[in-house]
Amino acid sequence: MKYLSSMSESATNGHTTSNPVIIQGGMGAGVSNWRLAQAVSRTGQLGLVSGTALDPILARRLQDGDPGGHMRRGLDAFPFPAMAERIWQKYYIAGGKEERTPYLTLPLLQKDNTRELNELCIVANFVEVYLARQGHSNPVGINYLEKIQTAHLSCIYGAMLAGVEYVVMGAGIPLKIPGVLDRYANHEAAEYAIHIHGSQEGDDVTMHLDPREYMECDLGPLTRPKFLPIVSSNTLATTMLKKANGRVDGLVIETRTAGGHNAPPRGKPVFSEIGEPVYGERDTIDIAKLCELGVPFWLAGGYGSPQMLRQALAQGAAGVQVGTAFEFANESGLRPEYKQRLMTKAIAGEASVFTDPRASPTGFPFKVAQLDGTCSEAEVVADRPRICDLGFLREPYRTEDGGIGYRCASEPVTLFVAKGGKVEDTVGRKCVCNGLLANIGYKQVRNGKREEYGLITAGDDLVAVPRFLQPGRSEYSAADVISHLLTGCDEPQVKEACDDVCFA
Ligand SMILES: Cc1cc2nc3c(=O)[nH]c(=O)nc-3n(C[C@H](O)[C@H](O)[C@H](O)COP(=O)(O)O)c2cc1C
Repeated sequence: MKYLSSMSESATNGHTTSNPVIIQGGMGAGVSNWRLAQAVSRTGQLGLVSGTALDPILARRLQDGDPGGHMRRGLDAFPFPAMAERIWQKYYIAGGKEERTPYLTLPLLQKDNTRELNELCIVANFVEVYLARQGHSNPVGINYLEKIQTAHLSCIYGAMLAGVEYVVMGAGIPLKIPGVLDRYANHEAAEYAIHIHGSQEGDDVTMHLDPREYMECDLGPLTRPKFLPIVSSNTLATTMLKKANGRVDGLVIETRTAGGHNAPPRGKPVFSEIGEPVYGERDTIDIAKLCELGVPFWLAGGYGSPQMLRQALAQGAAGVQVGTAFEFANESGLRPEYKQRLMTKAIAGEASVFTDPRASPTGFPFKVAQLDGTCSEAEVVADRPRICDLGFLREPYRTEDGGIGYRCASEPVTLFVAKGGKVEDTVGRKCVCNGLLANIGYKQVRNGKREEYGLITAGDDLVAVPRFLQPGRSEYSAADVISHLLTGCDEPQVKEACDDVCFA
């Protein structure tokens, strides 16, 4: 298969760097798994693994008996063998757990995590990146959500131990992440201040993690990954570049058609007849202004076609970040059954995605693909008892005695209210955490019978994914997506744009 020389040279801040034209979006949880990122990076474009919830994902893969032995391979490569062995001993079940046996419940992330949880996060992030880097020598990146702040330190250190070359982060304003990357490149202690609702001056809001407390041997310096924040407005793009506490290497600019969480519309909320948020003029991104910022940027949200790639390049972007198209590729972590059923609907012209302003406990709009038997249906949601046992989207809050509590708008209403939450904030909320793990085949089983349902997210692009199918085929690969996106890139005008993406 022929590819355009996929890393275009660009001069940025006085030094030469190479940039991918296509970034495969980090799709959590576990949709952008190591297989998908590896398949994309093999082609010379940039594959990202999702760094969200890798701790339960690794633990559950091990409890499923580690089919294929891939987790064991990753653990064997981990530089601190005693730590890897503790994880193996704790979670691995030869032959896999009984289908009706629940997965172990893990401690939930909080400001001061236990050593055990930090170890699991470090190792899980290492393994995912390590596996994605096998079989080629191209860069691999990782995606995190800034909102899941309590995970950052251990997860980033684990990914850096595995040689991750890009950290891509959205869903928040990650001004203090560059500093963490700089510290961990030398295994130095780092800290991260988390947002605690109602916190007062003098409260301790800072997390710490010193790699030296975890290292079993000395290691040389690590690669400092490039840092690409994901933003949805010109203001935020400028803020990131002006105020971050270290180097920002580029930006991903995500529009509202993208899958997963979306930025809410600016101003007073307005909803369409079917209850989707309505975006206006103020939400439009001025791409010409982005070019003036002097860093490479990638456009995301509906850019998964050769035409849109060309348009992005012509507008001065370094390329595009594409998610939904890769979500339906063979290598992605989405359960094959969900892929096939949604693909069949897309072919029949019946697929649809609802931008749900209420579903996510974060309060951010969340794109939900409509599919029978999943949490897109009200009856399915009503059938699920509210349980919060993964807790990634919990909000830390100041308790009356000055401590830190954690609450989730999708947890049992009485609990949420007892923790000072407002009852109206619980309306329409869904358990994104359990839904996303069910999407990728790691659904929790309760009382030996009740199973968690999927909650599938996809971008508006879902309706058009059949374009990647070759005649007579019902599935496609990540390489098919790349080769389709680069169609026409041999045309002189486009090739020139691809080769000369220059941000000097
Ligand atoms: C299934 C799915 C899950 C996603 N999860 C995340 C995520 O965890 N973090 C993130 O920054 N972006 C997430 N995204 C957004 C993608 O990384 C990417 O920016 C987006 O999909 C691009 O738009 P497109 O879907 O129209 O190609 C997700 C997208 C999809 C489709």
